[in-house]
Amino acid sequence: MKPFAPERKWLSCSAGRRQHPGTCQPGRGASGGGGGGVTSRGTPLAYALGGALVLALALLGLCLWQGAVAREWLVGVGRPLSAEAFAPLLRRPRLDFARLAAGARGGSFLGVLGGRFDMEAPPLREELRAECPLAFLRPSLADVAAGAAKPYLFGGQRPGCVNCNDPAKGRWCAYDSELSHSGAPICPAAEQATLMAHFNGRAAAGDAWAANMLRMTPCDLWPFLRGRTLWLLGDSITQESMRASECFLQEFWGAVPPWSKPSANESAIATSKTAGGVDPWCMELVQGARVCHLRSNNGASWADHVLPVFDGLGVRRDDIVLANFALWINKEPELRANLTAFADYVAAHAEEMPFIVWRDSSAQHFNTPDGDYVGVSWPWSCRAIGDDPEAMQLAPDGTLSSDRPELQVIVQGGWRNKILSPVVAGLGVPVMETWNQTVPLWQYNHHYNPTCGDRYDCGDCTHTCHPSMYEMWLYHLYETLLDSQDALLAHWAGRPQIRPHGPGAANTL
Ligand SMILES: *[C@@H]1O[C@H](CO)[C@@H](O)[C@H](O)[C@H]1NC(C)=O
Ligand SMILES: *[C@@H]1O[C@H](CO)[C@@H](O)[C@H](O)[C@H]1NC(C)=O
Ligand SMILES: *[C@@H]1O[C@H](CO)[C@@H](O)[C@H](O)[C@H]1NC(C)=O
Repeated sequence: MKPFAPERKWLSCSAGRRQHPGTCQPGRGASGGGGGGVTSRGTPLAYALGGALVLALALLGLCLWQGAVAREWLVGVGRPLSAEAFAPLLRRPRLDFARLAAGARGGSFLGVLGGRFDMEAPPLREELRAECPLAFLRPSLADVAAGAAKPYLFGGQRPGCVNCNDPAKGRWCAYDSELSHSGAPICPAAEQATLMAHFNGRAAAGDAWAANMLRMTPCDLWPFLRGRTLWLLGDSITQESMRASECFLQEFWGAVPPWSKPSANESAIATSKTAGGVDPWCMELVQGARVCHLRSNNGASWADHVLPVFDGLGVRRDDIVLANFALWINKEPELRANLTAFADYVAAHAEEMPFIVWRDSSAQHFNTPDGDYVGVSWPWSCRAIGDDPEAMQLAPDGTLSSDRPELQVIVQGGWRNKILSPVVAGLGVPVMETWNQTVPLWQYNHHYNPTCGDRYDCGDCTHTCHPSMYEMWLYHLYETLLDSQDALLAHWAGRPQIRPHGPGAANTL
């Protein structure tokens, strides 16, 4: 009996071509051997085995392609597949050629993912992987949509949380009251529900960015924070985003309360406050991490009073600075002059600078034709841009559009970002793009405004209540840092190991 030999032909020869002389004739496989070929008995069996092999390869490919999703799909055969698990299979990666080109110039290629990655298996470089000091269960989208789980960014707490019970901050961070906090109120419950409906709706419409944000846990950000300081440098908007990070990272507080000064150098601290007037403060976290806030409202003052005293403030080259100025400046020449001052300083001191990430300017919702503060008159009343919630469209892929000619400047990111972002990107500084996502958040513009007697209902169409855009930006930061890993690792390469910034602080990484 001849041994059955399906041979390698099954991968290259179709049934029809097998008859063609000289190509796929029986007995003339890739091995060139003279083995007896495929017998009439062997043919159906060989077809079956070959088919099984092709199917197995296809399934393996699918697994590699979609990771956990495909595994759930395979394991879950016979069970209905949840919409959430199926959605990523339907999505196409968004190819952004500008970002692709930026990646080719030395940055990362992760940018082309546009936020479309599996939160369970983020594209995190080996060098950055770190065990999270606390366990956070990632909520499912279905649970978030049903209101059974609150996203951590928007006040969700881990079971057994400890610092959530801190009397000073715990209640505030649950966002379950309407307490004031440094001028920014907590959004009323009805508005928080509207905000969740907005993001759930976006996720359900196929916006993978929103879906990831709703499922984010503090552990996602941790690899970028441990052992170093994240500095938040900017105006009152940045100050409010410090409040958001205090709550999101509440369970990582190294002590209760966690507040400290950035350094003991009073002269550096006093200088840094020149254009802001607010004392800088830090939140000490476990594993030697900190988040610190530096208030300074414009780029010219950064160049004169903040960046030159970085050393005295305790800013190290292996730290990360999330920086923004924009909204204090309402005249184009002033904005350009401030930008030049900042850009020139960074370019001239590149070797001493920490890793800078730029947050773009957020949208305003004043009662002006395009929502901008420029041209506003008292009394302020906040409204959707174009006085119509439908005037600006935010597609599931995160792109903005409008068919109104006067709103094209909003489509393009607003006049400030049009000036700032290209110059900042030209410095090699990653730009964290939040503008598009802040355009629809016009309902959350509240602030305790002394001008009208510190009432909650005073219009403030620049700031928002919590939780809303400031909390959302922590996901933007995570995504931007993921996108910037190559640049981060290059920035850190050859630098001394992370030094502890205080006694007893862990020296990790
Ligand atoms: C304080 O910081 C400034 C600015 O970095 C520096 O010039 C000065 O030497 C520092 N003073 C002390 C006592 O370290
Ligand atoms: C920078 O912006 C501020 C407004 O915050 C403005 O007063 C100042 O004149 C600007 N600086 C320059 C150099 O134009
Ligand atoms: C924001 O929208 C603009 C205009 O559609 C688009 O070019 C840009 O890529 C969008 N930004 C992000 C981060 O998706």
